[in-house]
This record gives sequence, structure tokens and C-alpha cells, in this order.
Amino acid sequence: MKKALRTLAKHIGLAVLPDSDFLRSMLNRPRFETWKKQIGSPPVFASREELYEFIVRKVLEDRAIQYLEFGVWKGDSIRAFAGLNTHAESRFVGFDTFTGLPEDWIEFNRSVPRERFDVGGEIPRIEDDRVDFRKGLFQETLPSFLPELEDRLPLVIHNDSDLYSSSLYLLARLDDHIRPGTIILFDEFYSVMHEFRALEDYCQAFQREYEVVGATKNYSQIAIRMA
Ligand SMILES: C[S@@+](CC[C@H](N)C(=O)[O-])C[C@H]1O[C@@H](n2cnc3c(N)ncnc32)[C@H](O)[C@@H]1O
Repeated sequence: MKKALRTLAKHIGLAVLPDSDFLRSMLNRPRFETWKKQIGSPPVFASREELYEFIVRKVLEDRAIQYLEFGVWKGDSIRAFAGLNTHAESRFVGFDTFTGLPEDWIEFNRSVPRERFDVGGEIPRIEDDRVDFRKGLFQETLPSFLPELEDRLPLVIHNDSDLYSSSLYLLARLDDHIRPGTIILFDEFYSVMHEFRALEDYCQAFQREYEVVGATKNYSQIAIRMA
């Protein structure tokens, strides 16, 4: 009887439920609520700049780092990181098309058009020899960059790409270089269909684990340390 009811509910559901982004987002919310309960109580900061400072000073103890930023736009976050970590041996590389997102960013009933981040192909001007950029889709620029990675320096990955496709691509592509201790920051982590889902899927597929070492309110931004 129970089975028959379940089958009936399934058929009714399939007949009436629309194929909608809103519904997909709603269905991912409970998983995010469970995640919040599972991660313990990491320190929570009032702004992303305070989170950056905590990561640079306390977690990485001002050591030289290799910082890869995915999603640069006008350069605010890479500029902030390079300003905080002044070690001469640190290296900062920013990846972006500089012509906008490869697809619209759709979450719930909100859609950010791809052109929102179009800066006409212009790379930010940052007066710091340690900072460098790779222009183009991550899918085109990351593979040829990988031989340049120096595994002797602690790796910090900053994912501010907004999209599931971009986030999952870069995590999977960097998996061989993501070691225990690697720090990964997410800038739109609350976005359950995108950055959150990408981290979940990456960890499941590559059997990786992590701890959350810091966050901002409502987990908009988080920093994790890989196990
Ligand atoms: C939210 S903006 C970055 C904001 C920036 N980090 C800041 O703090 O101001 C997201 C950026 O990700 C870039 N992006 C997303 N997916 C990409 C991909 N697959 N390849 C290249 N750039 C991508 C977009 O071009 C856009 O500029």
C-alpha cells in the first residue's frame, strides 16, 4: 500500500512539478541547513576583509603563499589579499575572462546576467610585481598554467566565480595540487545551486574532506582547510 502511494505521489509530482530553477534551488536548501549543523562553530567575521585578514595572519601566519583567484572582475579581492600578505616570495595569479560570466548566474528567482561583470577585457592595474593575470575562460587558461604551480608554497585558492560550472571545473582540475592544509575561500557560498553544490560534488567525487576555519555572517563567504 505504502509503495503504491509513493508511486502515485511520484507520478502526480512528475505531472505537476515544473522544470524550474526555483524548485531546484529549494530542493538544495535542506542540504545546506544540514551542512550548517555539521560544520561546528567556526569564527564568524563582520566582513570578508576581516576574514581575509584572519586567514593571512592567523591561519597562514604571514608565510609566503601561492594565491590563485578565480573571478577577479575589477580586482578588489586580489588587491586586498596582496595588500595583506606582503611576503616578497608570495605570488598572486588572477583568472578571469574580463568580459563577464560564461553564462547567466541563476539562483532561486534571481538571475544575474553574464554581462554584469564585463569590464571590456581590461585587466586591473595593480602596482605589485607579485601579481599576475590570466585572461580567458578558466577552462582555457588553467591547464596551461598548471606547470607553473610551485608546490613548495602553501596554496590558497579563492573561488569568486559564482557559477557551479566554473567552481566545479577549477576544483576538479586543481585536485592533484590540493594538499592537506590547502586553504580554499568561497565568496558566494550561500548560493546553494552554485558554489555550495560544487564543493559538495567535488568532495564526494574526489573523496576529499575539509574543516571550515572561518566565515562571514550567513556563510556568505567561507574559508576551508583541506584534510
Ligand atoms: C563576482 S565576480 C568576481 C569579483 C571579484 N573577486 C571581487 O572581489 O570584486 C565573478 C567573476 O568570475 C568570472 N568568471 C566566472 N566563471 C568564469 C570562467 N569559467 N572563466 C573565466 N572567468 C570566469 C567572471 O568573468 C566575473 O568577473
